[in-house]
Amino acid sequence: MAVEIRAIEALLQENRSFSPSAEFASTAILNDPAIYDVAAKDPVAFWAEAARELHWFKPWDKALEWKAPDAQWFAGGKINACYNCVDRHISTPRRNKAAIIWEGENGETRTLTYWDLYREVRRFASVLTEHFGIKKGDRVCIYMPMVPELAIAMLACARIGAIHSVVFGGFSAESLQDRINDSECRLVITADGGYRRGTVIPLKRNVDEALVNCPSVEGVVVVRRLGHGLTDETFTRMHEMRDHWWHRVAEDVSGKSECEEMDSEDMLYVLYTSGSTGKPKGIVHTTGGYLAGCYATTKWVFDLKDDDVYWCTADCGWVTGHSYTVYGPLANGATIVMYEGAPDFPDKDRFWSICEKYGVTIFYTAPTAIRAFMKWGPEYAQKHDLSSLRLLGSVGEPINPEAWMWYQQYIGEGRCPVVDTWWQTETGHIMISPLPGITPTKPGSATRPLPGILVDVLDEKGNSVPLGGGGYLVMTHPWPGMTRGLYGDPQRFKDVYWSKYPGIYFTGDGAKRDEDGYFWLLGRVDDVMNVAGHRISTMEVESALVDHPAVAEAAVIGKHHDLKGQAISAFVTLKGSRAGNSEMADDLKEHVVKKIGAICRPDDIIFTAELPKTRSGKIMRRLLRDIAEGRALGDTTTLADPGVVQSLRERYEEEG
Ligand code: PRX
Repeated sequence: MAVEIRAIEALLQENRSFSPSAEFASTAILNDPAIYDVAAKDPVAFWAEAARELHWFKPWDKALEWKAPDAQWFAGGKINACYNCVDRHISTPRRNKAAIIWEGENGETRTLTYWDLYREVRRFASVLTEHFGIKKGDRVCIYMPMVPELAIAMLACARIGAIHSVVFGGFSAESLQDRINDSECRLVITADGGYRRGTVIPLKRNVDEALVNCPSVEGVVVVRRLGHGLTDETFTRMHEMRDHWWHRVAEDVSGKSECEEMDSEDMLYVLYTSGSTGKPKGIVHTTGGYLAGCYATTKWVFDLKDDDVYWCTADCGWVTGHSYTVYGPLANGATIVMYEGAPDFPDKDRFWSICEKYGVTIFYTAPTAIRAFMKWGPEYAQKHDLSSLRLLGSVGEPINPEAWMWYQQYIGEGRCPVVDTWWQTETGHIMISPLPGITPTKPGSATRPLPGILVDVLDEKGNSVPLGGGGYLVMTHPWPGMTRGLYGDPQRFKDVYWSKYPGIYFTGDGAKRDEDGYFWLLGRVDDVMNVAGHRISTMEVESALVDHPAVAEAAVIGKHHDLKGQAISAFVTLKGSRAGNSEMADDLKEHVVKKIGAICRPDDIIFTAELPKTRSGKIMRRLLRDIAEGRALGDTTTLADPGVVQSLRERYEEEG
């Protein structure tokens, strides 16, 4: 193994770029580099051509109406996302093709053909309208494990024009409550529980806890995921009138729901994500542009063809699951794999066993997972026949060149192109990524913007930084999947994304362009952390900490972590003259988990009598990051009391 690792180091040192193989390029959906120029000449016409491949009940009047920051794509067009993902395939030979191949963590499997999916979605859409009276524009919260019913529920909402708000099953009852209330959901769809690393996630119990204070919710639908023994008493107490088993209500409806003809700009969903304040933002996506963007980028970036078996490992609670598990692939009529559980259950080869079993051809995951595979060692992948794989993708955080090379060598066996895809919940779909049949790749770089996407790197004053330099990553032209705003908060939308540079979308990321114009993403430039590919705001964790009765003040930072990218470090001042100890630290960690969810559990808590602040009282997180990452301290001249950082550093080194 040592020899193989050296081989990767050698490859890295060669600073190589990888051109698409002639074999891959010859059959790729896109293989003519002229597409970049064609798109650059008229990006709007370029996207309009892509959108024409979808089914429109009525064509649009104008492809783009743009008055920054308000975009309308394909206005006047009538379309339905569910129709495009499901109905239109059943009058084609895809009718009997597998749409969803599902595997539960405990090994159960289910396969739904497009026809099955059509029937299930139609039936559940009837449940929504006939049983619960859900109408176009109503919000429906979905809080579920990765089971087919999650995709079915999303599609059923889209079918009738209801707006779904999927909340990741790892969020706590309190986070769920905030999200339900922010968009005033009428209905919650959940399951009695889900499986993760062999234990049960008590989703329904969390829903019960959340609903104590959710006045807008009229009903709850519960999928029976657990066995009967576990269901009724332990995890699920059904509230009469309010709660309904999915399988029971589905028996009592016509199952004949038809697709609502939606305006292209009607809302499809809201999805909450962390911003640089404590309050999560409800990112709004509308229908026509979003679907066109997801459809086209899935086809181009993953070179998706009819005989592929496509697996994106993201949970549907995140945007990747929305765009690249559900909407993009299903709009292409693809076969998707959906897996419920953890990558190391029952053993560390679970993903590779799934790839082998179903003959996965396209595999899309996050760098944090790749780094875990690296740490576990290549033998887990080598136990399996991975020869069906033909393309690998990465998303969610910067991928370090070593992880990129490892992925390419050990999972792709040197044969598969690797696409590192940069995008955000707000962008809706992939923005910067190689086209696998065209773009040479460099390990660690997301390469170039996709055709039709206009990106720049600006300095503080708004000047474009010449090649070779770094700055702030921005989008200089609208794109179809762009968020249309923050739910119920147009001012915050303008402030966060459109005020740094008027008329230009500010991503919140730093980036550098090399001499070839290739983009190297440098992570967030705001107070947002990226922990194992999950976006978490420092303020959100700080508010959870100061909510604890013993805490006076807290400052949270993301510090470098080999596997997770970043880990959460919290510096905490207790009330009175209390000194912290390890029990208190554990108590605070649990408090954060209860308030937000397990993904936000701090890795370490450092108690301090004081936090480093400027004379105007602003906490200097930059210095805390220097301390946590063991760097020389940056400029300390603006500190009110420079002694604070010195003693903090000593404490940190002692405890660390
Ligand atoms: O910092 C960037 C990072 O993830 C952020 C977006 O997070 P979220 O909205 O949760 O969406 C994640 C999935 C699209 C970005 O602002 N990010 C995402 N992809 C990459 C990335 N950073 C570097 N390279 C990427 N490929």
